[in-house]
Amino acid sequence: MRLLITGGCGFVGSLLTKFFLSKEGWEVLLVDNFCRPGSEQNRRPLECLGATVIEADLRDRNAILSLPACHWVIDCAANPSVLAGLDARPSSPLASTGESPSLTLVDHNLLGTVHVLEYCKRHLAGLVLVSTSRVYSTDALSSVKLKSSNSRFELQPEQTTAGLSSQGISELFSTAPPLSLYGVTKLASEWLAREYAHAFGFPLWINRCGLMAGAGQFGRADQGIIAYWMHRYLYRHPLSFIGYGGMGFQVRDCLHPVDLANLISRQIKFSAAPGSYSHTAVDQPSTTLNVSGGIESAFSLLELHQWCERRWGSSKYGPPGKLTTVLENRRYDAPWIVLDSSLAQRQWGWTAQRSKEEIWEEIAEHAEEHPDWLQISQALS
Ligand SMILES: NC(=O)c1ccc[n+]([C@@H]2O[C@H](COP(=O)([O-])OP(=O)(O)OC[C@H]3O[C@@H](n4cnc5c(N)ncnc54)[C@H](O)[C@@H]3O)[C@@H](O)[C@H]2O)c1
Repeated sequence: MRLLITGGCGFVGSLLTKFFLSKEGWEVLLVDNFCRPGSEQNRRPLECLGATVIEADLRDRNAILSLPACHWVIDCAANPSVLAGLDARPSSPLASTGESPSLTLVDHNLLGTVHVLEYCKRHLAGLVLVSTSRVYSTDALSSVKLKSSNSRFELQPEQTTAGLSSQGISELFSTAPPLSLYGVTKLASEWLAREYAHAFGFPLWINRCGLMAGAGQFGRADQGIIAYWMHRYLYRHPLSFIGYGGMGFQVRDCLHPVDLANLISRQIKFSAAPGSYSHTAVDQPSTTLNVSGGIESAFSLLELHQWCERRWGSSKYGPPGKLTTVLENRRYDAPWIVLDSSLAQRQWGWTAQRSKEEIWEEIAEHAEEHPDWLQISQALS
């Protein structure tokens, strides 16, 4: 099996690459333009493992269409921040000089997908789209009824929002805008992918992932929060609880990309079996799935902070940096996002194997071994 992984030197792409090279023995080609600060770090190690790394930009149609033929594409190239495209911060990794940040974002996240789809059409390659929980409506997320416990927001028992249960947000939850420019480029990518796959007959799986985390993530304030928080805590940089009263009660789920890789592997093998994949069969597993650590992996920012306090206290590396609170909510933030992955469990027998604690421990060890990681990720501003 020959895979093309776009954004292959990013956090998720690099872990998927290692998995498919080492666990499956598949051939892996990577495409990356290295716009994510830190992604260059992964290049040599992945080449040493046997991956072929091609420096190219998904916005460049000719560059993508002239790539060698592969059986499957796993699309992991995007600017994955809900704040992306909104301002022209000079530090913004994707802000091209003099260009509109929103247009730049759409070019990377949506035009890039169109070129990937043209590639799939040309080579009849299957496609796995790594999508996101941020395709769900910000307004609907804000209307979820919550109560406060000691350390986090929790769901109230009676919910009237469609697609919401005690297990979290299902695939039936509203995807009506506003979503964020990031969310809408991913949702539009999903729709285009469905249309292309149907029209040109290649297999497609869309995995909507919640928060993903693990060692080596290039955490910044607006994306990769666990790595960002731990590295800053450990090396005494200021931290802030932003919005919702400044208590750090916002809740997210947590998934390690290796668990996602396990599901993708099953999806690809299923599609490769003669006669099993069909665009029309009613008993076909759903194309679009939530993939997350689910309610068991849910945590609040305050709980993450308290975990850091227990692990590092204030003695090992000196007292932690100042913790401030900002009362005002950040744009497109949501108080509670936990994806319900029961459909993935029912259809594929899949559940996340790595616990939140294992993921956090892995990131903490990486933070201790890499004191320069915030500089590498450009996460000190
Ligand atoms: N990290 C998460 O919590 C999370 C959650 C849900 C979904 N996702 C999705 O997973 C995918 C990967 O996210 P990540 O966390 O690994 O992000 P990342 O920034 O670490 O990796 C993205 C990679 O894509 C590359 N890239 C971006 N635009 C490109 C372009 N135009 N051409 C070529 N390469 C380009 C970047 O250089 C980077 O190496 C994204 O599609 C994101 O939407 C991530």
